[in-house]
Amino acid sequence: MQFPSIQGFFSQTASVRKLALGSARKAHEHLHHENRSYSSSPTLYASKSTFEPPEPPAFTGQPVFPDVEINSVGEGAAGRNQDKDAVFVVTGASRGIGLQMIKELLDRTKGKIVACCRSPSSAEGLQLFITSLPPEMSDRISVRQLDLENQESIEQLAESIKSSYNRIDVLLNVAGILGDGSTTPGPERSIRMMDREWTTKSFNVNYMGPIFLSQACAPMMRKKRNEGHSVIANLSARVGSISDNGLGGWISYRSSKAALNQATRTMALELKRQNTFTVALHPGTTDTDLSKPFQANVREDRLFPVDFTAARLLDVVDCMGLENSGGLYDWSGTALPF
Ligand SMILES: NC(=O)c1ccc[n+]([C@@H]2O[C@H](COP(=O)([O-])OP(=O)(O)OC[C@H]3O[C@@H](n4cnc5c(N)ncnc54)[C@H](OP(=O)(O)O)[C@@H]3O)[C@@H](O)[C@H]2O)c1
Repeated sequence: MQFPSIQGFFSQTASVRKLALGSARKAHEHLHHENRSYSSSPTLYASKSTFEPPEPPAFTGQPVFPDVEINSVGEGAAGRNQDKDAVFVVTGASRGIGLQMIKELLDRTKGKIVACCRSPSSAEGLQLFITSLPPEMSDRISVRQLDLENQESIEQLAESIKSSYNRIDVLLNVAGILGDGSTTPGPERSIRMMDREWTTKSFNVNYMGPIFLSQACAPMMRKKRNEGHSVIANLSARVGSISDNGLGGWISYRSSKAALNQATRTMALELKRQNTFTVALHPGTTDTDLSKPFQANVREDRLFPVDFTAARLLDVVDCMGLENSGGLYDWSGTALPF
């Protein structure tokens, strides 16, 4: 038995898509600007990437949040991006989207960047990047150890950030696992192939990790009304959408991301009282180790280069407002249904 293509999981079959068009269009009429152009929507810092994204596939279900309009950086985001004392924390910084987030943040912000990875000494890509930088740039990056499966490690990281900065402006929960289907039991294509240990690991990394790290970091993210807002951005996936699920399979990954989406929305309601916004983000199928085993069937124009993805996701973070807090958004700022 072969694994289905990642494209299948990130989009939909033709027949499902046809059925989906009606409800998706209705949703757009209610909540979205008509004729929104994805490929030519104005970008902020993302303009360095020459990649031309395709229009995202239609979805089934109705988004309950308005789109993030990617046209101007909000006042709060502009302030923190210029602030030398602002603190940006990124998990999964050893490779993939997390590593690219470090590069992008270095470019678009002036603040401190905390690069978290499971094993700093073997995070070659990150270490090579840092050693290639002039001291005034590399001094802004602090590499710290974090294993999201280990609560003590989460608490130690929060303590170390507290003693260094006692402040976090943006927490990017990027780290996540999908499985390659050969050296890991995930992602499963049927319930028969589910494995209890893998499901537990999947929930530990994709759901428990970001939630308990958010819990540990939230006290450092409080902002007074005149101080702008902070953001917790959780890297989710469109396959975590329950209403958009027309294909099945990948039960543990889908469920862990669905749980993450629910937690993102729930935290938003509570954390707005301390001016912390939360958002769940779908990066689109991106060329990283995570998607590698499934790339054979992905159309070339649908496989995003990692620099494009990281920049677009940060555009969404920079442009979001309170009205978007709690929502699930793709890389273009389009609200997706839960
Ligand atoms: N790439 C895509 O097409 C795609 C699509 C939809 C959603 N996403 C989501 O985007 C996020 C980033 O994905 P990616 O493509 O960049 O993946 P990736 O290249 O496979 O990188 C995964 C990162 O997660 C870290 N990680 C794994 N287990 C960890 C743990 N227990 N504690 C701390 N860190 C851990 C890895 O660290 P090590 O180096 O130590 O293993 C690595 O830095 C994930 O949440 C993923 O679900 C990706």
